Amino acid sequence: MFKAEQLAHTLHQLIEQGVWKPHQKLPSLREQAQTSGYSLMTVLNAYQELEARGLVFAREKSGYYVADQNMQPTALDRIEDSTLQSNIQMNSFVFDYLKSIQPNDILPFGSAFPNTALLHQPKLLQIVAQHARRKQSYESTASMPPGLLTLQQIIARRYSLQGIATEPQDIVITSGCLDALNLSLQAVAQPGDYILLQQTIFYGAWQAAERLGLNVITLPEHPEYGFDLEKFEQCLQMYPIKVCWLMLNSHNPIGFSVSDDIKQKIAQLLARYKVYLIEDDVYQELYFGSKKPLSVKYFDQDHRVLHCSSFSKTLGAGFRVGWVHHRKLSNQIQHLQLMSTIAVSPLLQHALVDFLSTHHYEKHLRSLRLKLEHHKKLFYRYLKQHLPAECEVYYYPSGYFLWIKLPKHIDSTQLYQTLLQHRIGIAPSQLFTVNRQQQHFIRLNCSFEFTNQTQHALDLLIHSITSAKFDQSSTYSDKP
Ligand SMILES: Cc1ncc(COP(=O)(O)O)c(C=O)c1O
Repeated sequence: MFKAEQLAHTLHQLIEQGVWKPHQKLPSLREQAQTSGYSLMTVLNAYQELEARGLVFAREKSGYYVADQNMQPTALDRIEDSTLQSNIQMNSFVFDYLKSIQPNDILPFGSAFPNTALLHQPKLLQIVAQHARRKQSYESTASMPPGLLTLQQIIARRYSLQGIATEPQDIVITSGCLDALNLSLQAVAQPGDYILLQQTIFYGAWQAAERLGLNVITLPEHPEYGFDLEKFEQCLQMYPIKVCWLMLNSHNPIGFSVSDDIKQKIAQLLARYKVYLIEDDVYQELYFGSKKPLSVKYFDQDHRVLHCSSFSKTLGAGFRVGWVHHRKLSNQIQHLQLMSTIAVSPLLQHALVDFLSTHHYEKHLRSLRLKLEHHKKLFYRYLKQHLPAECEVYYYPSGYFLWIKLPKHIDSTQLYQTLLQHRIGIAPSQLFTVNRQQQHFIRLNCSFEFTNQTQHALDLLIHSITSAKFDQSSTYSDKP
């Protein structure tokens, strides 16, 4: 091992001195053995040592590459103004899009859900099966709002552990996060009201605004901080905004998380202007590193924040179990729930209580975060290395999405349709914004293994971008 360490030390220096550049391929094991005079096994050990230090990474059947240590995200584009948008029409496009990527043979890079292989929890399924045999799982009063008390208790405890004093009755169990978000919005907004949305945001927010006939004020992203406090306050002064719907942790689709300082200031502004916030925190557990990010809810002394989340991104969207946290509006939300989705299957609620009471969930989360980080970095490095220089790949240390800026002349919806013909899904920016100037972005789900199939699909994506032509009639073509 001593020789391997020596070699690793020499190679480490080459990387530090910039002789070997980020994304550059290292000599093969055989070549390195020949030039250095060390055995193949020593070279392999040295490469693995460098990999463990995060200096190089291995790509299946290809070799070792120098890792890019600079994962600092580049600044986002500056978009000057907030806008007022009435008569939102997003639902039909989202519907057609989701249908189009549904078939099993479409590579799910356009999906909003993590690779199910990473979520699979045999222990949880075993518990579900045990409960499925119990009569109590079907007769439970948990089929009435606000849901199963023991599940409310567990969720409340998780909040309290993060410093958000919570009683079980503050929690309403819902059919996933989307149900929580929609019920929350209905509880505070009427048709014709003004809602503030981030300029680019999860399509569920646009659909909700469309369904309720709301006027939307869009808030452009801050190029560096993700959230623009100054513009936010200007919007609160200019428009009679009743409610905001924001994502501040692992934003979908862009990926950024906003600092605690900004979250605290958002809470202060909400209190000052008496505006509600629907905080979509569905990716709250998928942070990289050791510190779970706070939410605006943490700073919410004025009961302005309806905090919504679910188990969809950590245990599987199929469970359809989510919740909303708001002390004062809990009763109103339950009334609305009784008129729509009623409650979640008691069987699943019982099973979740048992599963969450064990150590399995925390263990699962730790391993999930590590795997997501690993996959995301591999996708990022490959794309950084092979995409044309005019493209930008935004990497943020959480979640499993990469947000990619394409050359401005490429319409991402047309690119998505082209790739669909090759059975590859990608999410075009038209799903997330109504701004016509922002149609050249795509969101890529990177929660999958970096296999040969993955690489082939990314190569096709890269080829389609590289060879995109834009003719006079504005039609996209991927033909060279
Ligand atoms: C940002 C965001 N919020 C909410 C949801 C809905 O989550 P659920 O499946 O728990 O309803 C999703 C799902 O894609 C999402 O990406």
